[in-house]
Amino acid sequence: MHSVFESATATPAIPITFASKATWEAIAADLPAQARQFAKANGFTAKPGACLTLPNASGEIAQVLFGLDDETSRSRDPFRPGRLPGLLPPGVYRFANVSAKDARLATLAFALGSYRFARYRKSDALEVRLVPPQDVDVAEIVRVAAASAMARDLINTPANDMGPEELARAAQDLAQRFGADFNCSVGDELKRQNLPLIYTVGMASPRAPRLIDFTWGESAHPKVTLIGKGVCFDTGGLDLKPSSSMLNMKKDMGGAACVLALAQMVMDARLKVRLRVLIPAVENAVAGNAFRPLDVFASRKGLTVEIGNTDAEGRLVLADALALADEERPDLLIDLGTLTGAARVALGPDLPPFYTNDEELARQLSACAERENDPLWRMPLWAPYDSWLDSKVANVNNAASGSFAGSITCALFLQRFVEAAKSWLHVDIFGWTPSAKPARPEGGECQAARAIYQLLSERYG
Ligand code: BES
Ligand code: MN
Ligand code: ZN
Repeated sequence: MHSVFESATATPAIPITFASKATWEAIAADLPAQARQFAKANGFTAKPGACLTLPNASGEIAQVLFGLDDETSRSRDPFRPGRLPGLLPPGVYRFANVSAKDARLATLAFALGSYRFARYRKSDALEVRLVPPQDVDVAEIVRVAAASAMARDLINTPANDMGPEELARAAQDLAQRFGADFNCSVGDELKRQNLPLIYTVGMASPRAPRLIDFTWGESAHPKVTLIGKGVCFDTGGLDLKPSSSMLNMKKDMGGAACVLALAQMVMDARLKVRLRVLIPAVENAVAGNAFRPLDVFASRKGLTVEIGNTDAEGRLVLADALALADEERPDLLIDLGTLTGAARVALGPDLPPFYTNDEELARQLSACAERENDPLWRMPLWAPYDSWLDSKVANVNNAASGSFAGSITCALFLQRFVEAAKSWLHVDIFGWTPSAKPARPEGGECQAARAIYQLLSERYG
Protein backbone atom coordinates (compact mmCIF):
# COMPACT_ATOMS: atom_id res chain seq x y z
CA MET A 1 0.00 0.00 0.00
CA HIS A 2 0.92 3.65 -0.45
CA SER A 3 2.79 4.81 2.65
CA VAL A 4 0.01 7.26 3.53
CA PHE A 5 -2.53 4.52 4.12
CA GLU A 6 -2.55 2.10 7.01
CA SER A 7 -4.68 -1.02 7.37
CA ALA A 8 -7.40 -1.06 10.03
CA THR A 9 -5.71 -3.76 12.10
CA ALA A 10 -2.86 -1.50 13.23
CA THR A 11 -2.93 0.41 16.54
CA PRO A 12 -6.25 2.18 17.09
CA ALA A 13 -6.54 5.14 14.78
CA ILE A 14 -7.31 8.61 16.13
CA PRO A 15 -10.75 9.76 14.89
CA ILE A 16 -10.97 12.98 12.87
CA THR A 17 -14.41 14.52 13.25
CA PHE A 18 -15.50 16.88 10.48
CA ALA A 19 -17.71 19.79 11.44
CA SER A 20 -19.11 22.79 9.60
CA LYS A 21 -20.76 25.95 10.86
CA ALA A 22 -24.11 24.21 10.40
CA THR A 23 -23.23 20.93 12.15
CA TRP A 24 -20.86 22.15 14.87
CA GLU A 25 -23.47 22.78 17.54
CA ALA A 26 -24.82 19.23 17.36
CA ILE A 27 -21.32 17.75 17.24
CA ALA A 28 -20.22 19.83 20.24
CA ALA A 29 -23.26 18.70 22.21
CA ASP A 30 -22.19 15.07 21.67
CA LEU A 31 -18.65 15.61 22.98
CA PRO A 32 -17.69 14.70 26.56
CA ALA A 33 -18.08 17.82 28.74
CA GLN A 34 -14.33 18.26 29.18
CA ALA A 35 -13.67 18.06 25.42
CA ARG A 36 -16.49 20.50 24.70
CA GLN A 37 -14.95 22.94 27.20
CA PHE A 38 -11.48 22.47 25.66
CA ALA A 39 -12.85 23.28 22.19
CA LYS A 40 -14.65 26.33 23.54
CA ALA A 41 -11.57 27.53 25.45
CA ASN A 42 -9.55 27.25 22.23
CA GLY A 43 -12.12 29.25 20.29
CA PHE A 44 -12.89 26.40 17.91
CA THR A 45 -16.00 27.25 15.88
CA ALA A 46 -15.59 24.84 12.91
CA LYS A 47 -14.31 27.52 10.54
CA PRO A 48 -13.34 25.83 7.25
CA GLY A 49 -9.77 24.54 7.60
CA ALA A 50 -9.60 25.01 11.38
CA CYS A 51 -8.00 22.07 13.17
CA LEU A 52 -7.99 21.24 16.88
CA THR A 53 -6.58 18.18 18.62
CA LEU A 54 -8.48 17.16 21.77
CA PRO A 55 -6.46 15.53 24.59
CA ASN A 56 -7.61 12.65 26.78
CA ALA A 57 -7.07 12.58 30.56
CA SER A 58 -3.45 11.43 30.14
CA GLY A 59 -2.63 14.13 27.59
CA GLU A 60 -2.63 11.90 24.50
CA ILE A 61 -4.57 12.93 21.41
CA ALA A 62 -8.07 11.49 21.76
CA GLN A 63 -9.72 13.09 18.76
CA VAL A 64 -9.25 15.71 16.08
CA LEU A 65 -11.81 18.34 15.10
CA PHE A 66 -11.56 19.74 11.58
CA GLY A 67 -13.69 22.47 10.02
CA LEU A 68 -15.29 21.97 6.59
CA ASP A 69 -17.34 24.32 4.41
CA ASP A 70 -21.07 24.16 4.73
CA GLU A 71 -22.81 21.95 2.17
CA THR A 72 -24.19 25.01 0.34
CA SER A 73 -21.13 27.26 0.57
CA ARG A 74 -19.99 28.84 -2.71
CA SER A 75 -16.36 28.33 -1.80
CA ARG A 76 -16.88 24.68 -0.83
CA ASP A 77 -13.66 22.80 -1.49
CA PRO A 78 -13.95 18.99 -1.44
CA PHE A 79 -10.15 18.83 -0.99
CA ARG A 80 -10.23 20.66 2.37
CA PRO A 81 -9.10 17.48 4.25
CA GLY A 82 -5.92 17.66 2.16
CA ARG A 83 -4.62 20.17 4.71
CA LEU A 84 -4.68 17.58 7.49
CA PRO A 85 -1.35 15.83 6.78
CA GLY A 86 0.43 19.18 7.15
CA LEU A 87 -1.39 20.08 10.36
CA LEU A 88 -1.43 16.85 12.35
CA PRO A 89 1.35 15.43 14.49
CA PRO A 90 2.79 12.06 13.42
CA GLY A 91 0.29 9.27 13.99
CA VAL A 92 -2.44 7.08 12.52
CA TYR A 93 -5.85 8.64 11.98
CA ARG A 94 -9.27 7.81 10.53
CA PHE A 95 -12.27 9.83 9.37
CA ALA A 96 -14.97 9.52 12.04
CA ASN A 97 -17.98 10.96 10.24
CA VAL A 98 -17.23 11.54 6.56
CA SER A 99 -20.34 11.31 4.38
CA ALA A 100 -20.45 8.58 1.74
CA LYS A 101 -20.45 11.09 -1.11
CA ASP A 102 -17.45 13.05 0.23
CA ALA A 103 -15.35 10.05 1.30
CA ARG A 104 -13.52 9.46 -1.97
CA LEU A 105 -12.31 13.02 -2.58
CA ALA A 106 -11.52 13.48 1.13
CA THR A 107 -9.33 10.38 1.05
CA LEU A 108 -7.72 11.40 -2.24
CA ALA A 109 -7.10 14.87 -0.82
CA PHE A 110 -5.41 13.36 2.21
CA ALA A 111 -3.09 11.34 -0.05
CA LEU A 112 -2.34 14.28 -2.38
CA GLY A 113 -1.83 16.60 0.60
CA SER A 114 0.73 14.23 2.08
CA TYR A 115 3.14 14.92 -0.76
CA ARG A 116 6.37 16.70 0.08
CA PHE A 117 9.35 17.22 -2.21
CA ALA A 118 12.06 15.51 -0.19
CA ARG A 119 14.73 14.85 -2.82
CA TYR A 120 17.23 17.27 -1.33
CA ARG A 121 16.09 17.43 2.30
CA LYS A 122 14.70 14.21 3.73
CA SER A 123 13.41 15.97 6.85
CA ASP A 124 10.57 17.40 4.79
CA ALA A 125 8.82 14.01 4.63
CA LEU A 126 5.65 13.57 6.70
CA GLU A 127 4.63 10.77 9.08
CA VAL A 128 0.87 11.18 9.17
CA ARG A 129 -1.15 8.15 8.07
CA LEU A 130 -4.77 7.37 7.46
CA VAL A 131 -6.89 4.24 7.84
CA PRO A 132 -9.05 4.85 4.77
CA PRO A 133 -12.87 4.72 4.94
CA GLN A 134 -14.18 1.25 4.07
CA ASP A 135 -16.32 2.14 1.08
CA VAL A 136 -13.65 3.90 -1.01
CA ASP A 137 -11.57 2.19 -3.69
CA VAL A 138 -8.20 2.66 -1.99
CA ALA A 139 -6.27 0.89 -4.75
CA GLU A 140 -7.56 3.45 -7.24
CA ILE A 141 -6.68 6.35 -4.96
CA VAL A 142 -3.20 4.93 -4.42
CA ARG A 143 -2.73 4.63 -8.21
CA VAL A 144 -3.77 8.20 -8.79
CA ALA A 145 -1.84 9.68 -5.85
CA ALA A 146 1.36 7.78 -6.68
CA ALA A 147 1.25 8.95 -10.28
CA SER A 148 0.57 12.56 -9.22
CA ALA A 149 3.50 12.44 -6.82
CA MET A 150 5.75 11.23 -9.63
CA ALA A 151 4.70 14.18 -11.80
CA ARG A 152 5.29 16.62 -8.95
CA ASP A 153 8.74 15.17 -8.28
CA LEU A 154 9.69 15.46 -11.96
CA ILE A 155 8.55 19.09 -12.09
CA ASN A 156 10.08 20.09 -8.76
CA THR A 157 13.46 18.60 -9.65
CA PRO A 158 15.62 21.48 -10.87
CA ALA A 159 16.89 21.52 -14.44
CA ASN A 160 20.45 20.60 -13.44
CA ASP A 161 19.11 17.20 -12.36
CA MET A 162 16.25 16.99 -14.89
CA GLY A 163 17.60 17.50 -18.39
CA PRO A 164 16.39 15.73 -21.54
CA GLU A 165 18.41 12.63 -20.63
CA GLU A 166 17.08 12.40 -17.08
CA LEU A 167 13.54 12.93 -18.29
CA ALA A 168 14.03 10.15 -20.83
CA ARG A 169 15.36 7.88 -18.10
CA ALA A 170 12.28 8.52 -15.98
CA ALA A 171 10.08 7.64 -18.96
CA GLN A 172 12.13 4.52 -19.65
CA ASP A 173 11.84 3.38 -16.02
CA LEU A 174 8.08 3.77 -16.24
CA ALA A 175 7.88 1.99 -19.59
CA GLN A 176 9.98 -0.90 -18.30
CA ARG A 177 7.89 -1.24 -15.15
CA PHE A 178 4.83 -1.97 -17.30
CA GLY A 179 6.55 -3.88 -20.11
CA ALA A 180 6.04 -1.13 -22.70
CA ASP A 181 8.12 -0.90 -25.89
CA PHE A 182 10.52 1.99 -25.40
CA ASN A 183 12.37 4.01 -28.00
CA CYS A 184 14.30 7.25 -27.87
CA SER A 185 15.85 9.18 -30.77
CA VAL A 186 18.67 11.45 -29.69
CA GLY A 187 20.44 14.42 -31.34
CA ASP A 188 21.29 13.88 -35.03
CA GLU A 189 18.95 10.89 -35.15
CA LEU A 190 16.11 13.39 -34.96
CA LYS A 191 17.24 14.85 -38.29
CA ARG A 192 17.45 11.42 -39.91
CA GLN A 193 13.97 10.59 -38.66
CA ASN A 194 12.55 13.83 -39.97
CA LEU A 195 11.81 15.57 -36.67
CA PRO A 196 13.48 18.87 -37.59
CA LEU A 197 11.63 21.18 -35.20
CA ILE A 198 12.49 19.08 -32.14
CA TYR A 199 16.11 19.08 -33.26
CA THR A 200 16.08 22.82 -33.97
CA VAL A 201 14.71 23.89 -30.60
CA GLY A 202 17.08 21.64 -28.66
CA MET A 203 20.33 21.92 -30.61
CA ALA A 204 21.84 24.89 -28.73
CA SER A 205 22.05 22.89 -25.51
CA PRO A 206 24.98 20.55 -24.78
CA ARG A 207 22.28 18.24 -23.45
CA ALA A 208 21.03 16.73 -26.71
CA PRO A 209 17.36 16.96 -27.68
CA ARG A 210 15.44 13.71 -28.00
CA LEU A 211 12.07 12.19 -28.73
CA ILE A 212 10.82 9.68 -26.19
CA ASP A 213 8.36 7.20 -27.71
CA PHE A 214 6.82 4.22 -25.93
CA THR A 215 3.91 1.95 -26.69
CA TRP A 216 1.88 -0.29 -24.39
CA GLY A 217 -1.17 -2.53 -24.64
CA GLU A 218 -2.79 -4.76 -27.25
CA SER A 219 -2.59 -3.48 -30.79
CA ALA A 220 -6.27 -4.34 -31.40
CA HIS A 221 -7.43 -1.90 -28.71
CA PRO A 222 -8.36 1.72 -29.47
CA LYS A 223 -5.29 3.86 -30.08
CA VAL A 224 -4.82 6.60 -27.49
CA THR A 225 -1.72 8.74 -27.94
CA LEU A 226 -0.43 11.16 -25.30
CA ILE A 227 2.08 13.91 -26.05
CA GLY A 228 3.76 16.03 -23.37
CA LYS A 229 5.86 19.16 -23.78
CA GLY A 230 9.24 18.28 -22.29
CA VAL A 231 11.17 21.55 -22.31
CA CYS A 232 13.50 20.85 -19.40
CA PHE A 233 14.44 24.50 -19.14
CA ASP A 234 13.10 27.42 -21.15
CA THR A 235 15.44 30.42 -21.25
CA GLY A 236 13.37 31.77 -24.14
CA GLY A 237 16.30 31.15 -26.50
CA LEU A 238 17.75 34.22 -28.25
CA ASP A 239 14.47 36.00 -27.46
CA LEU A 240 15.69 35.61 -23.91
CA LYS A 241 13.21 35.80 -21.05
CA PRO A 242 13.78 38.46 -18.37
CA SER A 243 14.99 36.90 -15.12
CA SER A 244 11.64 37.05 -13.34
CA SER A 245 9.96 35.14 -16.18
CA MET A 246 12.82 32.65 -16.50
CA LEU A 247 12.98 31.92 -12.78
CA ASN A 248 10.56 29.01 -12.68
CA MET A 249 11.18 27.54 -16.14
CA LYS A 250 12.37 24.21 -14.71
CA LYS A 251 8.64 23.49 -14.77
CA ASP A 252 8.46 23.76 -18.56
CA MET A 253 8.47 19.96 -18.79
CA GLY A 254 5.22 19.93 -16.80
CA GLY A 255 3.27 18.58 -19.78
CA ALA A 256 5.68 15.64 -20.04
CA ALA A 257 5.42 15.00 -16.29
CA CYS A 258 1.61 15.02 -16.37
CA VAL A 259 1.54 12.76 -19.43
CA LEU A 260 3.84 10.27 -17.68
CA ALA A 261 1.54 10.37 -14.64
CA LEU A 262 -1.49 9.79 -16.85
CA ALA A 263 0.29 6.94 -18.63
CA GLN A 264 1.13 5.38 -15.28
CA MET A 265 -2.52 5.57 -14.18
CA VAL A 266 -3.68 3.99 -17.46
CA MET A 267 -1.14 1.16 -17.42
CA ASP A 268 -1.53 0.53 -13.70
CA ALA A 269 -5.30 0.18 -14.16
CA ARG A 270 -4.80 -1.93 -17.31
CA LEU A 271 -7.26 0.08 -19.37
CA LYS A 272 -8.17 -1.51 -22.69
CA VAL A 273 -6.22 0.84 -24.92
CA ARG A 274 -3.18 0.71 -27.15
CA LEU A 275 -1.32 3.54 -25.45
CA ARG A 276 1.45 5.54 -27.10
CA VAL A 277 3.42 8.22 -25.29
CA LEU A 278 5.50 10.79 -27.16
CA ILE A 279 7.66 13.32 -25.33
CA PRO A 280 9.90 15.74 -27.15
CA ALA A 281 12.54 16.44 -24.48
CA VAL A 282 14.74 19.47 -25.11
CA GLU A 283 16.38 22.41 -23.44
CA ASN A 284 15.65 25.82 -25.01
CA ALA A 285 19.13 27.26 -24.50
CA VAL A 286 21.23 30.18 -25.74
CA ALA A 287 24.39 29.57 -27.78
CA GLY A 288 26.02 30.55 -31.10
CA ASN A 289 24.21 27.73 -32.88
CA ALA A 290 20.80 28.58 -31.45
CA PHE A 291 17.88 29.06 -33.87
CA ARG A 292 17.11 32.72 -34.54
CA PRO A 293 14.14 35.02 -35.01
CA LEU A 294 12.97 34.86 -38.63
CA ASP A 295 14.75 31.60 -39.38
CA VAL A 296 12.55 29.28 -41.44
CA PHE A 297 12.41 25.51 -40.97
CA ALA A 298 10.51 22.73 -42.66
CA SER A 299 8.51 20.70 -40.15
CA ARG A 300 7.91 16.96 -40.19
CA LYS A 301 4.49 17.54 -41.73
CA GLY A 302 6.07 19.51 -44.57
CA LEU A 303 4.68 22.89 -43.54
CA THR A 304 7.41 25.53 -43.39
CA VAL A 305 7.53 27.46 -40.13
CA GLU A 306 8.91 30.95 -39.69
CA ILE A 307 10.26 31.73 -36.23
CA GLY A 308 8.53 34.87 -35.02
CA ASN A 309 9.79 34.24 -31.51
CA THR A 310 12.26 31.66 -30.20
CA ASP A 311 10.34 31.68 -26.92
CA ALA A 312 7.35 30.05 -28.61
CA GLU A 313 9.35 26.80 -28.61
CA GLY A 314 6.83 24.46 -26.99
CA ARG A 315 4.46 24.55 -29.94
CA LEU A 316 7.41 23.81 -32.27
CA VAL A 317 8.43 20.59 -30.54
CA LEU A 318 4.79 19.57 -30.14
CA ALA A 319 4.14 20.22 -33.85
CA ASP A 320 6.57 17.51 -34.95
CA ALA A 321 5.33 15.11 -32.26
CA LEU A 322 1.69 15.74 -33.23
CA ALA A 323 2.47 15.19 -36.92
CA LEU A 324 4.21 11.91 -36.10
CA ALA A 325 1.36 10.74 -33.86
CA ASP A 326 -1.23 11.75 -36.43
CA GLU A 327 0.34 9.46 -39.03
CA GLU A 328 -1.12 6.36 -37.38
CA ARG A 329 -4.62 7.88 -37.18
CA PRO A 330 -5.12 7.49 -33.43
CA ASP A 331 -8.66 7.27 -32.04
CA LEU A 332 -7.77 9.89 -29.47
CA LEU A 333 -4.77 12.23 -29.59
CA ILE A 334 -4.05 14.27 -26.46
CA ASP A 335 -1.30 16.80 -25.86
CA LEU A 336 -0.46 18.62 -22.62
CA GLY A 337 2.03 21.40 -22.14
CA THR A 338 2.97 24.58 -20.31
CA LEU A 339 2.56 26.51 -23.53
CA THR A 340 1.54 30.08 -22.86
CA GLY A 341 1.58 32.77 -20.22
CA ALA A 342 -1.65 33.91 -21.86
CA ALA A 343 -3.54 30.88 -20.49
CA ARG A 344 -2.69 32.18 -16.99
CA VAL A 345 -3.84 35.66 -17.85
CA ALA A 346 -7.16 34.23 -19.03
CA LEU A 347 -7.90 31.63 -16.34
CA GLY A 348 -5.21 31.78 -13.65
CA PRO A 349 -2.86 29.01 -12.51
CA ASP A 350 -5.47 26.53 -11.23
CA LEU A 351 -7.83 26.29 -14.18
CA PRO A 352 -6.12 25.12 -17.37
CA PRO A 353 -7.92 25.75 -20.65
CA PHE A 354 -8.58 22.82 -22.96
CA TYR A 355 -9.32 22.82 -26.68
CA THR A 356 -11.09 20.29 -28.88
CA ASN A 357 -13.57 20.22 -31.74
CA ASP A 358 -15.08 16.99 -30.40
CA GLU A 359 -18.26 18.10 -28.59
CA GLU A 360 -18.85 14.76 -26.89
CA LEU A 361 -15.25 14.67 -25.64
CA ALA A 362 -15.55 18.23 -24.31
CA ARG A 363 -18.77 17.44 -22.45
CA GLN A 364 -17.40 14.26 -20.92
CA LEU A 365 -14.08 15.85 -19.98
CA SER A 366 -15.76 18.81 -18.25
CA ALA A 367 -17.86 16.38 -16.22
CA CYS A 368 -14.81 14.28 -15.26
CA ALA A 369 -12.82 17.40 -14.34
CA GLU A 370 -15.57 18.56 -12.02
CA ARG A 371 -16.10 15.14 -10.45
CA GLU A 372 -12.36 14.67 -9.85
CA ASN A 373 -11.80 18.20 -8.62
CA ASP A 374 -9.12 18.50 -11.33
CA PRO A 375 -10.58 21.63 -12.90
CA LEU A 376 -10.43 22.35 -16.65
CA TRP A 377 -12.23 24.94 -18.75
CA ARG A 378 -13.00 24.73 -22.44
CA MET A 379 -11.76 27.53 -24.69
CA PRO A 380 -12.49 27.78 -28.43
CA LEU A 381 -10.39 26.91 -31.46
CA TRP A 382 -11.57 30.26 -32.83
CA ALA A 383 -11.05 29.96 -36.58
CA PRO A 384 -11.16 33.71 -37.36
CA TYR A 385 -7.89 34.15 -35.45
CA ASP A 386 -6.10 31.52 -37.50
CA SER A 387 -4.89 34.12 -40.00
CA TRP A 388 -2.95 35.83 -37.21
CA LEU A 389 -0.44 33.03 -37.71
CA ASP A 390 0.16 33.90 -41.36
CA SER A 391 3.77 34.41 -42.37
CA LYS A 392 4.99 36.52 -45.27
CA VAL A 393 7.54 33.89 -46.34
CA ALA A 394 6.48 30.52 -44.90
CA ASN A 395 3.32 28.44 -44.41
CA VAL A 396 2.96 29.55 -40.81
CA ASN A 397 4.58 31.72 -38.13
CA ASN A 398 5.16 30.22 -34.68
CA ALA A 399 4.09 33.45 -32.96
CA ALA A 400 0.86 35.25 -33.76
CA SER A 401 0.92 38.89 -34.79
CA GLY A 402 -0.26 41.04 -31.88
CA SER A 403 -0.56 39.82 -28.33
CA PHE A 404 -4.26 39.02 -28.03
CA ALA A 405 -5.66 35.54 -27.32
CA GLY A 406 -2.22 33.92 -26.98
CA SER A 407 -3.46 30.58 -25.68
CA ILE A 408 -6.02 30.31 -28.51
CA THR A 409 -3.51 31.16 -31.24
CA CYS A 410 -1.12 28.57 -29.80
CA ALA A 411 -3.90 25.96 -29.99
CA LEU A 412 -4.64 27.03 -33.57
CA PHE A 413 -0.95 26.65 -34.45
CA LEU A 414 -0.96 23.09 -33.09
CA GLN A 415 -4.22 22.28 -34.90
CA ARG A 416 -2.46 22.78 -38.22
CA PHE A 417 -0.39 19.67 -37.50
CA VAL A 418 -3.33 17.38 -36.75
CA GLU A 419 -5.63 16.07 -39.44
CA ALA A 420 -6.09 12.29 -39.37
CA ALA A 421 -6.65 11.72 -35.65
CA LYS A 422 -10.32 10.89 -34.99
CA SER A 423 -10.34 13.21 -32.02
CA TRP A 424 -7.82 15.70 -30.65
CA LEU A 425 -7.53 17.34 -27.24
CA HIS A 426 -5.03 20.03 -26.29
CA VAL A 427 -4.55 21.29 -22.70
CA ASP A 428 -2.50 24.41 -21.90
CA ILE A 429 -1.46 23.67 -18.31
CA PHE A 430 0.47 25.71 -15.74
CA GLY A 431 1.99 22.74 -13.90
CA TRP A 432 2.57 24.66 -10.72
CA THR A 433 0.79 25.68 -7.52
CA PRO A 434 2.09 29.19 -6.69
CA SER A 435 0.82 29.12 -3.09
CA ALA A 436 -0.28 26.07 -1.13
CA LYS A 437 -3.92 25.05 -1.23
CA PRO A 438 -5.60 22.00 0.34
CA ALA A 439 -4.17 18.82 -1.26
CA ARG A 440 -1.93 21.02 -3.41
CA PRO A 441 1.36 21.89 -1.73
CA GLU A 442 3.24 24.81 -3.26
CA GLY A 443 5.32 23.63 -6.21
CA GLY A 444 4.96 21.32 -9.19
CA GLU A 445 1.38 20.23 -9.85
CA CYS A 446 -0.04 17.32 -11.80
CA GLN A 447 -2.84 18.97 -13.78
CA ALA A 448 -5.42 17.41 -16.11
CA ALA A 449 -4.12 13.85 -15.68
CA ARG A 450 -6.75 12.77 -13.14
CA ALA A 451 -9.60 14.24 -15.17
CA ILE A 452 -8.39 12.61 -18.39
CA TYR A 453 -7.74 9.32 -16.60
CA GLN A 454 -11.37 9.28 -15.41
CA LEU A 455 -12.53 9.91 -18.96
CA LEU A 456 -10.36 7.09 -20.28
CA SER A 457 -11.57 4.73 -17.53
CA GLU A 458 -15.19 5.49 -18.43
CA ARG A 459 -14.47 4.73 -22.07
CA TYR A 460 -11.96 1.93 -21.86
CA GLY A 461 -12.15 0.51 -18.32
N1 BES B 1 6.92 28.05 -21.35
C1 BES B 1 6.42 29.27 -21.86
C2 BES B 1 5.02 29.59 -21.38
C3 BES B 1 4.79 29.78 -19.92
C4 BES B 1 5.34 30.88 -19.27
C5 BES B 1 3.98 28.92 -19.23
C6 BES B 1 5.10 31.07 -17.94
C7 BES B 1 3.73 29.12 -17.91
C8 BES B 1 4.30 30.20 -17.26
C9 BES B 1 6.37 29.25 -23.37
O1 BES B 1 7.39 28.56 -23.98
C10 BES B 1 6.46 30.68 -23.82
O2 BES B 1 7.47 31.29 -23.58
N2 BES B 1 5.39 31.17 -24.47
C11 BES B 1 5.36 32.51 -24.93
C12 BES B 1 4.79 32.51 -26.32
C13 BES B 1 4.95 33.80 -27.04
C14 BES B 1 6.43 34.09 -27.30
C15 BES B 1 4.20 33.75 -28.36
C16 BES B 1 4.50 33.33 -23.98
O3 BES B 1 3.51 32.80 -23.45
O4 BES B 1 4.86 34.48 -23.73
MN1 MN C 1 9.12 29.70 -24.27
ZN1 ZN D 1 8.21 27.03 -22.91
